[in-house]
Amino acid sequence: MTLLSKADFSNRDMSGACFQKIVHLAKINWGLNLEEGKRPLIAARLRKRVLATGSRDFSDYVQRLSNGDINECDHFISALSTNVTQFFREFHHFEMLEKAVFPKLKGSRNIKIWSAGCSTGQEPYSIATVAEKIFGRRNDIQILATDADPAVLRLAQNGRFDITDVDFLSVQHKRDLFEVYSKSEFFVRDTLRNMIDFRRLNLVQPWPINCMFDVIFCRNVAIYFDKSTQDKLWAGFSGRLKPGGYLFIGHSERINFPENIKMEPVGITSYKKFSSER
Ligand SMILES: C[S@@+](CC[C@H](N)C(=O)[O-])C[C@H]1O[C@@H](n2cnc3c(N)ncnc32)[C@H](O)[C@@H]1O
Repeated sequence: MTLLSKADFSNRDMSGACFQKIVHLAKINWGLNLEEGKRPLIAARLRKRVLATGSRDFSDYVQRLSNGDINECDHFISALSTNVTQFFREFHHFEMLEKAVFPKLKGSRNIKIWSAGCSTGQEPYSIATVAEKIFGRRNDIQILATDADPAVLRLAQNGRFDITDVDFLSVQHKRDLFEVYSKSEFFVRDTLRNMIDFRRLNLVQPWPINCMFDVIFCRNVAIYFDKSTQDKLWAGFSGRLKPGGYLFIGHSERINFPENIKMEPVGITSYKKFSSER
């Protein structure tokens, strides 16, 4: 197989038929809804993978994916997914955790929280900070942090962040989050890291989870799914919440008719599962 040079390959566009195959693969495997308008962006992201794998062109590359190259599927989801995140993003959810949700759980044991679609870890680390503030250092608080993209999970697990990830944070938040820092590198405190179990999990495949959660965060993930996939996801989360448990979703996401899945709205993009059968 001939390896193309960057210059040769950058002149070849992704055909409509090839883009449709990519749309199909992204949809059936990860629920991602890729729109036609994103074709140039996706072509730019995947071009690097075509070159790295020594594929002849996009078609050859798609054939490799369709043949089930598991290793390349990891790179494919990494190239397609949008991983934007931030510490304490959508701050109102963390305020609600601190002022309403966690204080009510103080008398409970084995508290379980799920950050689904955690990207590079800023969301679960922010949750852990609030948990430590309210519950103190208890060893029965577990945060499950999952993502489909193995590359972001590796970064999340390292717990090392650059100045650009943290410079907007208050001095107090920096103290709460990091134990060692230089001018350019910040390392998350061990007590927070120990609360979190990072695992790979694809939300549109069966979930290998057998526990119930007090709180679930799934923010800015379902926005990339179509409506019926979103509805299945919300119902799945309701099924995994303890009675009275909370679900937080992203700012541009909504659950229509939450009562159909035993949930009620309790704040901005915040829902609570019914405490008992109605
Ligand atoms: C924009 S980030 C959201 C990060 C964080 N929840 C937040 O709101 O800041 C979306 C994440 O969803 C993940 N994702 C996309 N499709 C997924 C799927 N089918 N299963 C699990 N995670 C998925 C992506 O890999 C990405 O890290």
